[in-house]
Amino acid sequence: MFTAYPSAKLGGDMLRIDTLTKRFGDKTAVDAANISVNEPSMIGIIGRSGAGKSTLLRMVNRLSDATSGTITYEGEDITALRGAARRHWQSRCAMIFQQFNLVPRMDVVSNVLHGTLNKRSTFATMFNLYPQSDIHRAIEILDRLGIAEQAPKRAEALSGGQQQRVAIARALMQDPKIILADEPIASLDPMNAQVVMQALRRIHEEDGRMVIANLHTLDTARRYCDRVIGMRDGRIVFDGTPEQLTTGVARDIYGAGADFSEAATSTEIETLDRSEVREVKAYA
Ligand SMILES: Nc1ncnc2c1ncn2[C@@H]1O[C@H](COP(=O)(O)OP(=O)(O)O)[C@@H](O)[C@H]1O
Ligand SMILES: [Mg+2]
Repeated sequence: MFTAYPSAKLGGDMLRIDTLTKRFGDKTAVDAANISVNEPSMIGIIGRSGAGKSTLLRMVNRLSDATSGTITYEGEDITALRGAARRHWQSRCAMIFQQFNLVPRMDVVSNVLHGTLNKRSTFATMFNLYPQSDIHRAIEILDRLGIAEQAPKRAEALSGGQQQRVAIARALMQDPKIILADEPIASLDPMNAQVVMQALRRIHEEDGRMVIANLHTLDTARRYCDRVIGMRDGRIVFDGTPEQLTTGVARDIYGAGADFSEAATSTEIETLDRSEVREVKAYA
């Protein structure tokens, strides 16, 4: 089988997280987490609010420093990167947030072009000068996400689902190896949530990018991800396939009687089969 990732083949894991720990005072937000990923998978992280999901992603992106433990990517120690090397890593693992983090009054295409910011000179940034090729690429990416016609509008004029696709487009401008998404659909209605998850799935499948998404709901993780990681009280308590994520396991992750409801979950699963999801190529 052809692989575009020779270093993964040469023995090392692509992404490896070893006994990663984050403490805030006497609170342990992430407690000795171990994760190894040896292909560019689509991974969902689930768990109750406060389980440590965001803190974990923020450490991978180096937005937050680990208290102890290591993160390596293709053999490189990410936890040790400083200054320009750290910023370079941050451009290789783009982050998407629940609240989109766009500049609301700025037009869509300029928001997307912001994804190239760390590659441009101060002068170019000051005068808002972008190479023609970057503008073309931004429009192409927007087109791929089904929102090219929104390019001249202010970001604030778009629906939530459209805004999140702009945020994805901005991330893609960086040509990242990894996309980290922290609750990317938590502010969206079910219809827009599907469109955004399908966009992430497609970017994963067609471009071979690794996607790691913190997800609020169990069924979204099951439906779109190849692998699901369950966190509880800072610890990884499950790491397996959606098929292995049984109701009993889910109860362990969320805690008995918590915000996990078996009825709501199973109903939603019946409405859309995973094989169906993989075939969806069109965007609403
Ligand atoms: N900056 C911070 N300062 C203090 N405590 C924090 C900070 N960030 C997160 N925490 C705590 O760490 C734990 C994990 O938080 P978080 O990673 O946001 O969980 P999740 O994303 O799963 O909801 C929570 O108890 C939270 O209150
Ligand atoms: Mg969170």
